[in-house]
Amino acid sequence: MKVAVLGAAGGIGQSLSLLFKAQLPAHFEISLYDLSPVTPGIAVDLSHIPTQPKIAGFCGDDPSAALEGADIVMIPAGVARKPGMDRSDLFNFNATVIHKLIGYCARVCPNACIGIITNPVNTTVPIAAEVLAKAGVYDKRKLFGITTLDVIRAETFVAQARGLDPSRVRVPVIGGHSGTTILPLLSQVAGCQFDDEEASVITDHVQNAGTEVVHAKAGGGSATLSMAMAGFRFTQALARALSGEPGVVEYAYVEGNTDYARFFAQGVRLGRHGIEEWLDIGPLSPLERQELDSMLASLRGDIALGEQFAREH
Ligand SMILES: NC(=O)c1ccc[n+]([C@@H]2O[C@H](COP(=O)([O-])OP(=O)(O)OC[C@H]3O[C@@H](n4cnc5c(N)ncnc54)[C@H](O)[C@@H]3O)[C@@H](O)[C@H]2O)c1
Repeated sequence: MKVAVLGAAGGIGQSLSLLFKAQLPAHFEISLYDLSPVTPGIAVDLSHIPTQPKIAGFCGDDPSAALEGADIVMIPAGVARKPGMDRSDLFNFNATVIHKLIGYCARVCPNACIGIITNPVNTTVPIAAEVLAKAGVYDKRKLFGITTLDVIRAETFVAQARGLDPSRVRVPVIGGHSGTTILPLLSQVAGCQFDDEEASVITDHVQNAGTEVVHAKAGGGSATLSMAMAGFRFTQALARALSGEPGVVEYAYVEGNTDYARFFAQGVRLGRHGIEEWLDIGPLSPLERQELDSMLASLRGDIALGEQFAREH
């Protein structure tokens, strides 16, 4: 199975590539691509780690060599936030990056599953869908906005609040991937109960955790290491499902089957061809219902912006 990382020389890209080389099973092939000329060297560096997956690195303007035969493409290419910016400030630059890279995916590996990490995810995923659709290769089972970082943050903060082992906590996170569109469903966490006040504090922490990292890094970037771990968790789950393992469920921002918005983060059961089943979001507490209702205008606006960008380019 071949996994390509586009944007592999960046903070997320390098850490994700390290996790792939260190942890993926023997039959994997990893290919790295970035505009940066350091990228072939990153692959040489990683190739000295004594694990079996093969790894190669490519740079320059054209990612085709890296995409040839890819089954999974993970994309953290673009610019990241600095203090004072929100994710929508990244739109102008990153929309163009995604538009271009997805164009190559459509031509070179039209059957690959694509995971978009590049922000603003609420908008870059609709752009990707439109580019793939224009090329006649869009399969909504195979396009994912990566929201796993919201999930692992929610799991960490719930575990901290209850003194639990975070690796055993599961928290569904629905909606989108920015500000109030990120909605952890704390009422569905097995074995835990939260009153509205505590739920609001944890929800707020999950929604603002990215900004917390941006400030703590004092202008040096946004979340990279936790994002790489999240991207690794999602890729590993997807690869297991593509290989035929049954019952693999993750949350991601996908073109779903809800009435809330065309793209919506929800649970999906993965299978040999990507999404096999879109899972119901389940019962919400009155507070969660209210938060869901009040985020929808913003989420739909983000989606419309991406659709409009794709129409005009
Ligand atoms: N989905 C999430 O939860 C999440 C979390 C954190 C960050 N992000 C986003 O991930 C993206 C990357 O973050 P980072 O911290 O790794 O940034 P970074 O600046 O460290 O790395 C970005 C890399 O992308 C490369 N790049 C830029 N344009 C390219 C192109 N056209 N083709 C190939 N490569 C290109 C750059 O050369 C650079 O190496 C940002 O958009 C950031 O907002 C998403």
